[in-house]
Amino acid sequence: MYRSNTCGELRITDISKEVTLAGWVQTVRKFGAITFVDLRDRYGITQLLFGEELNKQLEENPLGREFVLQATGVVNERSNKNPNISTGDIEINVQSFSILNRSAVPPFTIQDDTDGGDDLRMKYRFLDLRRNAVKKNLELRYAVNRAARNYLHKKGFMDIETPFLIKSTPEGARDFVVPSRMNPGQFYALPQSPQTFKQLLMVSGYDRYYQVVKCFRDEDLRADRQPEFTQIDCEMAFVEQEDILNMFEGMVKSIFKDVKGIDYTEKVHRMTWEDAMWNFGNDKPDIRFDMSLLNLKKPASVYVSKGDRSSLINGTGFKVFDDAETVLAIAVPGCSEYSRKQTDELTEWVKRPQIGMKGLVFIKCNTDGTYKSSVDKFYSEEKLKAIAEAANAKAGDLVLILAGAEERTRKAISELRLEMAERLGLRKKEEFRLLWVLDFPLFEYDEEGNRWVARHHPFTSPKPEQISTMINNNPVIENAAEYLKHPYANIKANAYDMVLNGNEIGGGSIRIYQRELQEKMFAALGMDKEEQQHKFGFLLGAFEYGAPPHGGIAFGFDRLCAILGGSESIRDFIAFPKNNAGRDVMLDAPATIDDKQFDELQIKLDLK
Ligand code: AMO
Repeated sequence: MYRSNTCGELRITDISKEVTLAGWVQTVRKFGAITFVDLRDRYGITQLLFGEELNKQLEENPLGREFVLQATGVVNERSNKNPNISTGDIEINVQSFSILNRSAVPPFTIQDDTDGGDDLRMKYRFLDLRRNAVKKNLELRYAVNRAARNYLHKKGFMDIETPFLIKSTPEGARDFVVPSRMNPGQFYALPQSPQTFKQLLMVSGYDRYYQVVKCFRDEDLRADRQPEFTQIDCEMAFVEQEDILNMFEGMVKSIFKDVKGIDYTEKVHRMTWEDAMWNFGNDKPDIRFDMSLLNLKKPASVYVSKGDRSSLINGTGFKVFDDAETVLAIAVPGCSEYSRKQTDELTEWVKRPQIGMKGLVFIKCNTDGTYKSSVDKFYSEEKLKAIAEAANAKAGDLVLILAGAEERTRKAISELRLEMAERLGLRKKEEFRLLWVLDFPLFEYDEEGNRWVARHHPFTSPKPEQISTMINNNPVIENAAEYLKHPYANIKANAYDMVLNGNEIGGGSIRIYQRELQEKMFAALGMDKEEQQHKFGFLLGAFEYGAPPHGGIAFGFDRLCAILGGSESIRDFIAFPKNNAGRDVMLDAPATIDDKQFDELQIKLDLK
């Protein structure tokens, strides 16, 4: 027997028991004739006391950091208690010990506040994983996994695995491909998601499916993206959108309860995609705070028919606003007393290349009822007041206005809104606000190819009342500059995203389940019959054998864990993540392969 107890287990009630512990040496402290050793395992840390006799043995066999040690002794009450750890009331008076393995000096300290930099810790990830901070994240991940599985199991969902070696049918992101030795010159692709398989399972009658599953996408990486990531992937048959929304807000609430002890009793807020774009400038607004946008010029690309507020800024000769495609404002609460230095700093902030604006206009809504702005020359106090009021500003607020090219300005004001909320402490890590964003556009215009692409994926159904618009109109875009006038620009999808604190944590849709409509959809995306058959013949064929109405959703499991753990980066919640260049620095992957492997694959490398 290697151990009778773990290093996190013993308490004052265990005094006088003889125990054996095994773990890693965290610290060794020598005090004259006695030595204290902190022994660590997954469960905690226990202090070991080596008395005079054993000390001699220790001198002959000195312990180092991260040595694997087994010690047997008696549990004693500590004279110098440590209230910070659960075993802090006791120590083990060691009677015998054995060094089970030695350790090289670790390249960084295995502590919460480690001295190791990011790269070093990734290279020695197996050591980093010994640290409490990382361990806590993986524990949280496991708790979320368990909570999701428990909920789905209770609701009758069945976990069914789907293959990883599939056929390449890239949409959205690029595929990772794998050469086949047995079929020279042919390649598998790793799935970007199990989308078509889960739909086939619905055709097969497994009407509630789920899987906690790896997905692979060869796309540019960010803090919330990894080339391989995990989804909680779900599909249901005989459902409408409402059934899916209810089922899966139930799942997320259940995860909140099980993992964080949070009773999220209120109904999850819902917003159309149009409203999200109009009021927040993006499709995943953080609704923990308001600061919604005032559109001083109607943005063209957000196919909306909202009111035109340009009369508030027009006709004063201020060229920056007059010439801009888009002018957007937010009212920042309680910041009217910003100094010149502070407004200058904000102006510099929006001018940074990542934000890319040329400048920032502000209106101070002073508490004495006066208005002061950086464009006083062009706007009377009355006009300033009208703009401020339209932006829902109150006395004491600071209105910030950005003007410029539409897409850039919209992105910039969204970033500025988040930045101001961050500075004002309105993005509280322990406050969770869920949101459904509904009614996404079915299509997106792809400038490069001058064609329509599916905004979500090609299996998403259009709103029933707009099916005829899709079927009866030619997808060809005659005039690229006027693509917004094409009837397809206004078709909405039966698609929904779940947003948590400004992050898209899940997305799904009600699917097309009739062959004819699916063919029309593929055709709308510019796929001829031959290509349809080559890429998706299996699905079209399956739809001829009694496909039930169905729909589903997939949650970004890593993202959900990161947000629940209060982090921006999903890497912290993955045991062995890749870096931003898609490399595993511990394995040093990707790497070249042997000539023999190339020969077997009948592949000759000829890099361009
Ligand atoms: P979608 O592509 O929206 O939908 O993905 C679902 C969720 O997965 C997460 N996600 C990612 N997480 C980490 N790294 C990535 N590279 C990454 N890409 C996506 C996001 C996202 O909301 N098959 C459909 C789902 C469906 O229709 O049922 C799909 O994959 O949180």
